[in-house]
Amino acid sequence: MKINWFEEKIKKFSSIGGYQKPEYLQDAVKLDSNENYVISRQFQNDVISTAKKNSDVREYPLGGIERLIPMISKFVKIPCSMIGVGNGSDQILDLILSNFASNQTKILTSNPTFGFFEERCKLYSIPMIAIPFSNDMKLNIKDFIKQSKNANILYLDSPNNPTGFQFSKNELQQLIASFHGPVIIDEAYGEFGNYSLANMVKTQENLIVVQTLSKSFGLAGLRLGYFIANKKFTDVFMNVLQYPYPLSTLTIESGILALEKSTIMKDAANNIKIERKRIIETLQKYDAFEVFDSKANFVLFDAHGAYKRVYSALAEQGISIRKLGKIGTHDGCLRVTIGTKEMNSKFLLAIRDLLG
Ligand SMILES: Cc1ncc(COP(=O)(O)O)c(C=O)c1O
Repeated sequence: MKINWFEEKIKKFSSIGGYQKPEYLQDAVKLDSNENYVISRQFQNDVISTAKKNSDVREYPLGGIERLIPMISKFVKIPCSMIGVGNGSDQILDLILSNFASNQTKILTSNPTFGFFEERCKLYSIPMIAIPFSNDMKLNIKDFIKQSKNANILYLDSPNNPTGFQFSKNELQQLIASFHGPVIIDEAYGEFGNYSLANMVKTQENLIVVQTLSKSFGLAGLRLGYFIANKKFTDVFMNVLQYPYPLSTLTIESGILALEKSTIMKDAANNIKIERKRIIETLQKYDAFEVFDSKANFVLFDAHGAYKRVYSALAEQGISIRKLGKIGTHDGCLRVTIGTKEMNSKFLLAIRDLLG
């Protein structure tokens, strides 16, 4: 058969593989995707049922985003003209990459970085300069500043997925100020971290801060992400690059209601931080594990040669965590999301039964 350009493309894409979702375990204690179960089902029900009453899905959501953006603006305390939205922050990152990057633009990031972002760079053949984490899962700002001269775009998830690392605010500000191209700071886990750089956008033209309702608000299934950036970028993104109706009516209405109840989100984030400390301190008691500090709603630990056994033993008991394997010199990495107190206790008990 004659191979044409279309088949060549399909062959190229199939060699990439795509983003690896976690294994699906029915009725599992789900600690594998950094979702937020501390936000109650009641919160979700209240938001969705009111959103349903306010929605007429026979219509396109004309004017909906225009009502949502002032709510985000009030929440982040940044003018509406500097805020754009997307179908999850995934879609925002994807639209930035597909329109502003190419095989001629080098992206400076960390290794590891957010898996979806890395996959998208592969898909668009965008070269990456990826600075590795040290053995104790930290990054060195000097390495970034040094390499920044060779790069066109800077992307950092702050805190980082999967390590949970976050630069000090000062260091990150210094890096951004010294970088000449666009800087994407992905704050998907920002509410669990030490700070947000959203305000810096007011003085730093090249900065795009990406945030989401998926993690802190516990609304991953709604697919609602947003960004904060200078007005020129925001206008082009929203009027030219973005789809005409990227968010469903139910997403828009639910988002408006959730943002009105942001104190519930803040309480949940605080509880998660307390539970994160408990999980880190308990896991640290096992010699079999090396546990890394985290500023996000998950904890990374290296279970060395035992990682497959730990993962499978938990899965057999209906507890799903993320199996990552090798990261740098650490060959048995596992990542566990911080769930409710009850979920976390089940996870810790299962570990105790296995190793105690
Ligand atoms: C660093 C990072 N950025 C973005 C996302 C995607 O978030 P969203 O649900 O808004 O697409 C994730 C989700 O895991 C993430 O880990």
